[in-house]
Amino acid sequence: MSVRDRDGGRRLQRLARDNRPLHFGTNFKMHQTPEETARFLAELAPRVDRVPDRVRLFVIPPFTSLPAAIAAREHSGLTSRVWIGAQNVHWATEGAYTGEISVRMLTSIGVDFVLLGHAERRGHFGETDQALAKKVPAALDAGLRVLLCVGETAEEKAFGVGPETVIRQLKIALHAVTTDALPRLLVGYEPVWSIGAGGTPARPEDVMETVVPLRRALGEQFGEAGGSVPILYGGSVAPENCGDFVTLEEIDGLFVGRAAWQVEGFERVLEAARAARGEASGYRD
Ligand code: PGA
Repeated sequence: MSVRDRDGGRRLQRLARDNRPLHFGTNFKMHQTPEETARFLAELAPRVDRVPDRVRLFVIPPFTSLPAAIAAREHSGLTSRVWIGAQNVHWATEGAYTGEISVRMLTSIGVDFVLLGHAERRGHFGETDQALAKKVPAALDAGLRVLLCVGETAEEKAFGVGPETVIRQLKIALHAVTTDALPRLLVGYEPVWSIGAGGTPARPEDVMETVVPLRRALGEQFGEAGGSVPILYGGSVAPENCGDFVTLEEIDGLFVGRAAWQVEGFERVLEAARAARGEASGYRD
C-alpha cells in the first residue's frame, strides 16, 4: 500500500476542509531568450482561460526576458492570472554591487514576484542563509511576492539532518520578516538531490518528513498566520508523479523545472495535478 493510500484520508481531509488554492509555476533557469519567453506566454494564454482563477500561476524567466514577459503577459490578457518572477534580487536599494539587480529595478518594470534561495544559487554561487536573511525582507517590504526555496543535500539527508537543515534555512531567511508580510510569502521545499536531470524525485514520505516540521516552524514563528503560507514541492516534478505531491497535507502547489519549459508540458503537469487534487478532495481546482 502506498503512503498516499495509507494516510490519504487524513491528508485529503485538510485539503477538502480548507479548499486551499493550488499554486503552480516554472523557473526557466538559464533558458529562453526574450522572444522565446514571449512566445511561451502567448501560447499559455488560451490554456489559462480554461483554468479557474483560484489556481495561482507563475513563470520565472531570466532577467533579460523579464520586460518581454511583462509585455507578453499584458498583451495576452494574463496580467491578473500569471505572476512574473525574477530568479534573484539584491538586498540593497542601490550601490556598488556590479552584476546585481535591486528590488526597485524589478518593481519599476512590473515584476511582482521573486524566487530566492534556489538550490542552484546556494550550490553554484555561494548564496548564504545570511544573504537571504537580508534579501527576503527587502523584497517582501517592497511589495514583491517571494518564493523562498529550502532543501537539504543528499549528504544532509544521509546523515539524517534533512528536517533541521531546512528549518535552519527557513528560520534564518525569515528572521526579520513580520506577520503582515506573510500573505506575500511562499515556501518551496526542493530537496537538492531531487532537482534536475540527475535528480531522483522525492517519495511522498520524504516530503512529509520535512514539510510537517517546516509547517510547525512557520507556526512557531508566526502563530496561526504561519498556517496559511503556501508550501510548494519542487524537484523532478512530472505529469506521472505530480499527483503524489499535490494530494499531500501541507503541500499547496508545485514548482516545476524542465517538465514545464514548453507550454505543452506546463499544461500537462498542471492538468495532472488538478485532476489528482480533484479525485482526492472531491473538488477540482
Ligand atoms: P526540475 O527543477 O523540475 O527540472 O528538477 C526543479 C527546480 O530546480 O526548481
